[in-house]
Amino acid sequence: MFVYNAWYMAAWADEVKPKGLLGRVLLNLPVVFYRTENGMALALEDRCCHRALPLSHGCVVGDQLQCGYHGLVYDRNGLCVKVPGQERIPVQARVRSYPVVEQDQMLWIWMGEPALANPALIVRHPWHDDPAWVWIKDRYSIKANYQLVTDNLMDLTHVGYVHQRTIGGTPQAHSDADTQTTRSETGVKVTRWMMNSVPPPSYLAAHKFNTPTVDRWMEIDFFAPVVVRIHTGATDAGTGAREGHREGGLAFMGLNLQTPETEKTTHYFWSGAHNYEEGQSDMRAKLLTSLPITFAEDKVVVEAQQESIDRLEGAPLVMIASDAGLVHARRLVAGMMESEMKVREAAANP
Ligand code: FES
Ligand SMILES: [Fe+2]
Repeated sequence: MFVYNAWYMAAWADEVKPKGLLGRVLLNLPVVFYRTENGMALALEDRCCHRALPLSHGCVVGDQLQCGYHGLVYDRNGLCVKVPGQERIPVQARVRSYPVVEQDQMLWIWMGEPALANPALIVRHPWHDDPAWVWIKDRYSIKANYQLVTDNLMDLTHVGYVHQRTIGGTPQAHSDADTQTTRSETGVKVTRWMMNSVPPPSYLAAHKFNTPTVDRWMEIDFFAPVVVRIHTGATDAGTGAREGHREGGLAFMGLNLQTPETEKTTHYFWSGAHNYEEGQSDMRAKLLTSLPITFAEDKVVVEAQQESIDRLEGAPLVMIASDAGLVHARRLVAGMMESEMKVREAAANP
């Protein structure tokens, strides 16, 4: 079960090239993306209504999509406008179309009730278009439910254990971090401060600190149902980062989007940006080498977790204090699913 009335990241904008087709399963539904001649991104159901060949096997003809099997042509609304060899087009000959918004280098899709698709609800990420920030991105296919990926991001006490080789630092410093959880009706924010702590290898590689220890922060913002923005960084210890003086330090802005592919697989889109500083041009390369490794470490963990959960389905799990953020995140998603279910049931039994 998924939340349908929400914007999900479907692809990086540059994944859908002019004249190209991108087929992707989202929330268990097949979707094909393409661009019109003037570059507007569109999404249709990726299943021809004739003999079910995915339309992503076809081709773009002007602003329309032609099936690669027997040549049916669909317009941008998914309406079949041509059946080769016959005049009459069956009235049922159509596929579903989905609202799409291209923003901040991402393509967002609305899989629910189209009338509710308000683009103002999309989480903005201006760092992708800000020349003062350098960033990298990717999509990982994760063999685990999307909420396990969210859980992983909401409880960063794992960093000291899972990411020892990369962004870790000492596990104790992570567990002892001064942590605050702020809940709202649409999200949750977890703020963690590791004052006077030993910087991890990737921080030392990317930045020259003037003190052996640093004041390090992690601000994790969850926007229901699947967006997690993580602002992290560090300054020389004792220079007032906690009071807002973060200049001269190292800062990362991470974006994580756990779009469900199926119940047990996830498109994990991520980007990592850092504040670019003149004279530190090699930072980008260092960031490039550490981030994909870091997220691959998380992938190993959540996939193993999913296998373990499946093996003993329904077996209980014990909560600890650091679960506060993910518990609220899960509660919000459950609430959204429940209210959508009620609306569906009311419509089915008027
Ligand atoms: S399956 Fe698409 S035209 Fe026949
Ligand atoms: Fe992690």
